[in-house]
Amino acid sequence: MTYPIDTSVKPEVTGFFDPATNTVSYVVKDPATDACAIVDSVMDIDYAAGRISYGHADQIIDFVERHQLRVEWLIETHVHADHLSAAPYIQGRLGGKLGIGSKIKVVQETFGKIFNEGTEFQRDGSQFDRLFEDGDTYEIGTMKAFAIHTPGHTPACMTHVIGDAAFVGDTLFMPDGGSARADFPGGDAGTLYDSIQKVLALPDETRLFMCHDYAPNGREIRWETTVAEEKAHNIHVGQGTTREAFVKMREERDASLDMPKLIIPSLQINMRAGELPPADESGKRFLKVPLNGL
Ligand SMILES: [Fe+2]
Repeated sequence: MTYPIDTSVKPEVTGFFDPATNTVSYVVKDPATDACAIVDSVMDIDYAAGRISYGHADQIIDFVERHQLRVEWLIETHVHADHLSAAPYIQGRLGGKLGIGSKIKVVQETFGKIFNEGTEFQRDGSQFDRLFEDGDTYEIGTMKAFAIHTPGHTPACMTHVIGDAAFVGDTLFMPDGGSARADFPGGDAGTLYDSIQKVLALPDETRLFMCHDYAPNGREIRWETTVAEEKAHNIHVGQGTTREAFVKMREERDASLDMPKLIIPSLQINMRAGELPPADESGKRFLKVPLNGL
């Protein structure tokens, strides 16, 4: 696949860090117009209380309104397992089309079974406005954007490239953070390695924007690096780490990791494109907890 790379286009990128989940959401603005995209938004949840709220999403809405931007796209890099998407909430307020990778259908099939969803849960990706295939292009104002299929963490992971900026989702972390886990259903360490090579094949000066940062070794939170920096310094894949060495490291490490705290609510909400599960006959909405199901 050859991708339509154009690093002469330099979008204005603003990150919004969510300390509760260590997620970074982005507003990506076309420098030539008022058009923008929002990447990987977060809906707040107090899981212990079963309460959702929109403080983080409201910060983004406020930013968009203050700068009088026009939202053309809401992009999900993948079905997140550690935070809930606020895309439908933001879409209801600001508009825009909601897009995710076409392999969402695989993810919906897998988790539709795990959560024993009925036939009202469609497994065809129809909750989204656009399903991206590898190499698909779209526009944000005058900017051309494209999606690279980067599975391994999950089957539907896409990296979105907009001018000289790439939103890598959970493929890479900052150089001192390494890479994302590859042990969720449908994940695979070798596939993740191959996907990371696709990201590292972008031009050296490409700005890379992380979906998460966990501030390793007590440093401050950071979310932006470059292809050159990752190639030189990434602790998991830098300096030409082999596929074999990466897979061994990744699998050993994943075996030692706990499940993300919010995986159960996140999957049930995010496989529905961020919509809440349908109300029961009493009008109430519930999340399920499958026992020994994950
Ligand atoms: Fe993720």
